[in-house]
Amino acid sequence: MAERIVVIGAGGFGRETLDVIEAINAAGGAPKWEIVGVVDDAPAAVNLERLGARGYPHLGGIDATRDILATSAMAIAVGSPATRALLAARLIEAGARFATLVHPSAIVGSQSRIGEGSIICAGVQVSTNVGLGLRVHLNPGAIIGHDAVLADDVSVNPGGVVSGDVSVGRGSLIGAGAVVLQGLSVGEGAVVGASACVTRDVLPRVVVKGVPAR
Ligand SMILES: CC(C)(COP(=O)(O)OP(=O)(O)OC[C@H]1O[C@@H](n2cnc3c(N)ncnc32)[C@H](O)[C@@H]1OP(=O)(O)O)[C@@H](O)C(=O)NCCC(=O)NCCS
Repeated sequence: MAERIVVIGAGGFGRETLDVIEAINAAGGAPKWEIVGVVDDAPAAVNLERLGARGYPHLGGIDATRDILATSAMAIAVGSPATRALLAARLIEAGARFATLVHPSAIVGSQSRIGEGSIICAGVQVSTNVGLGLRVHLNPGAIIGHDAVLADDVSVNPGGVVSGDVSVGRGSLIGAGAVVLQGLSVGEGAVVGASACVTRDVLPRVVVKGVPAR
């Protein structure tokens, strides 16, 4: 029997996550997930409109939907790592169960580990012996090299490349199309700008951009 799932976050990544869930359901056999709807404390009007057009209901905010959340798995589909971590803490306190979602077109190599609550989108490539923490988001087309370790609540935006043996600290964001060269470390809460090429270690909570990234 399909398990109930609620997507947290009515923004663009919320709808992309609905696509991932639908693709998992369509991949063969009985559908794995029954999509109940989307929860968001303060959805923008444009997002409510887009969600309606997508055919899924906005169920309400977290506090108003506690009963629904208690009987469903959840996917936190909020792109901001910091917001995601805060939401997770709030939901874990209420006994949340997080779904781990991997689009069927993603490739995950041998010995790689995917933390609970992670969302891996279409066309992602995860190499061998990669460690993904809790609630890691890999957006479409991201590539993660061999032996890389991404801590909890890391986001790699579309087309981002994390090379082999890189370590990415908790809550960091790797921008769209950015490249982190092999063996480097990106500190906790750091941001790598879109299209940057990271050639040196990035300190915690620092924003870097450009080629080479500064
Ligand atoms: C680097 C980044 C974090 C900077 O954000 P910010 O601090 O709000 O920066 P601002 O937009 O105020 O821009 C500040 C300056 O940096 C430049 N800049 C912004 N992003 C840049 C980037 N990725 N690479 C090079 N320069 C960039 C701006 O042109 C501006 O230059 P100026 O001062 O000469 O006018 C952000 O632009 C970024 O790239 N984030 C990743 C976003 C991403 O991946 N988006 C895709 C989502 S799917």
